[in-house]
Amino acid sequence: MISSRVPSGPVSVLVTGAASGIGLACARRLLTAGHRVALVDRDADRLTAALVELAAGDAASRHVADLTDPASVATTVADALAVHPGLSAVVNAAGAIRAGTAASTSDADWRWNLDTNASSAFYVCRAVLPGLVAAGGGAIVNIASLTALRPIPDRAGYAAAKGAVIAFTRQLALEYGPHGVTANTICPGAIRTPLLAARFDREPEVERDLAGRIPLRRTGEPDELAALVELLVAGDCRYLTGQTISVDGGLSLV
Ligand SMILES: NC(=O)c1ccc[n+]([C@@H]2O[C@H](COP(=O)([O-])OP(=O)(O)OC[C@H]3O[C@@H](n4cnc5c(N)ncnc54)[C@H](O)[C@@H]3O)[C@@H](O)[C@H]2O)c1
Repeated sequence: MISSRVPSGPVSVLVTGAASGIGLACARRLLTAGHRVALVDRDADRLTAALVELAAGDAASRHVADLTDPASVATTVADALAVHPGLSAVVNAAGAIRAGTAASTSDADWRWNLDTNASSAFYVCRAVLPGLVAAGGGAIVNIASLTALRPIPDRAGYAAAKGAVIAFTRQLALEYGPHGVTANTICPGAIRTPLLAARFDREPEVERDLAGRIPLRRTGEPDELAALVELLVAGDCRYLTGQTISVDGGLSLV
């Protein structure tokens, strides 16, 4: 019988979008817990700053890549595997938004949203899966968005891309469960990362209004989401797969 591999001791995790926000919080939390992390991002300067801040020595490695480019992803995953041969998990947190309604979204922005948020996760998973299968299992966590489940205006391309992430992750869980690989999606609500913080700092009333609608009455901190990621990729939570979990302070309830 094949069973999901239960990680014992330190694991090696590839985290995308690791130069900022949620990805950086995941890297920080995993490294603090004694795990090893390959940090991947397209922003070379912020990735360098992240490595300096994390001060994790050779437990952390730095990989600059544009994840919308499949060739760049293949090279990057190979580099990460050279540093962390026992890689057993992936967290796809890279993503970004180009806003627009269905009518106002250009062809280029539609494709950009799909490439940045969905194709990137596909390229990374495709490159990493053979190693996870060969190792007898592993864990994949893909970060989508509450927007995919609970639409907000002006997010046509972004919401569609994050919806694709959810469907793709369920597909992974079905296809790779027999190889011991779990795959789950996390949908953040409003998490205070650079993606949102700049607007909140400029217009505090926007954050106040939003917080007033969230059952927990506040926006979330990146580390509160990273706590779940740690459980999924390095904890004993190995019988959970194919699920879509909202980390949103209850926003999906209202
Ligand atoms: N912050 C929130 O409230 C929130 C809500 C819903 C969903 N999300 C999702 O969570 C994830 C993390 O968001 P965040 O808030 O930490 O944003 P962020 O902007 O702080 O970090 C995203 C990181 O992804 C990187 N990135 C973007 N495109 C890339 C590419 N093509 N190749 C390589 N790296 C790339 C960026 O350089 C950046 O460092 C994203 O997928 C985002 O869509 C965030």
